[in-house]
Amino acid sequence: MKEKIEALMAEVAALKANTRQDVEDARIRLLGKKGSITELFDEFRGVAPEMKREFGAKLNVLKNAAADRIAQLREEVENKAVSSAGGAANDLTMPGTPGELGSRHPVSIVRQEIVDIFRKFGYDVAEGPEIEDDWHVFEALNFPPEHPAREMQDTFFVSDGELVSEENGVKTYRNPLLLRTHTSSVQVRTMEKMPLPIRVICPGRVFRNEAISARAHCIFHQVEGLYIDEGVTFADMKQAILLFAREMFGPETQIRMRPSYFPFTEPSAEVDVSCNICGGKGCNICKGTGWLEILGCGMVDPNVLEASGIDSKKYSGFAFGMGIERIAMLKWQVKDLRNYFENDLRFLREFETVL
Ligand code: PHE
Repeated sequence: MKEKIEALMAEVAALKANTRQDVEDARIRLLGKKGSITELFDEFRGVAPEMKREFGAKLNVLKNAAADRIAQLREEVENKAVSSAGGAANDLTMPGTPGELGSRHPVSIVRQEIVDIFRKFGYDVAEGPEIEDDWHVFEALNFPPEHPAREMQDTFFVSDGELVSEENGVKTYRNPLLLRTHTSSVQVRTMEKMPLPIRVICPGRVFRNEAISARAHCIFHQVEGLYIDEGVTFADMKQAILLFAREMFGPETQIRMRPSYFPFTEPSAEVDVSCNICGGKGCNICKGTGWLEILGCGMVDPNVLEASGIDSKKYSGFAFGMGIERIAMLKWQVKDLRNYFENDLRFLREFETVL
């Protein structure tokens, strides 16, 4: 046995290979299932017990030496293959291939900016499901049953909901599942669960069944906010929105409010900021008006507070909501909303330097 081990040791030391096949042949010959080293291990079982220690150690040395030598030959052969293909692998002075860094998506950048501003004001961030039920998206928000926003053209429905009755073949369902059309649903969930006072913003993806164009998309992102406490007034809302607008668009920014309507707020308003491109003089971004519309807001309707179990005699609050893509479009003067969804690297690379 001793001689066999020594002979194989010499063979391992003298191993040579020119091709991958040579290396593989050597491996099979020595270490394969029927290889000579493997066979020695079988033979080792019959060795006298007092010799086992010595031979065992030698055999292991042999096996490791063979494995190392084969790995070394494999590497040599691979390098040879690469260098004959182009010669580059052996040129140690060549600069390395730099790893390509990605960049943050403009929608993420603006969402983070909005979230950071409201965090500073003491708001928490809440998230909720994108597949929602009718209650959280519409019913609890005071949408009357026949409100047009519930119709098929605006909402993507996921399932019919619970069957409540069937008369003359007409089935009536309740509380269908749908893709949320706004993140106000998260505000409802917050009002249902969280102790008062509430100060929360809800960023998230929303879905509306709209034809895709430069100014509309069926998927977009919102940040909505909600503030509920005793004695919250319209003046508080106006101040919060003014401070937000100045943080977002610059300290000179002015806001104006126009009366509007939302089922869940009363009174409601649409907020414009003075155009940060022309400083309010009028340009093609603000279409000559000097103003840019950025969000909807209003005092939470008492029906909405009561639907979530909040005493509307004691508490009041305001809510607001804005589209992230719209703000990003204003910020960077992007003319076509579809740019945000098409993953065109030429567009996304424009934001590489924005942190
Ligand atoms: N939920 C409204 C929308 O999606 C925005 C909004 C939120 C308006 C809160 C007023 C108050 O259009």
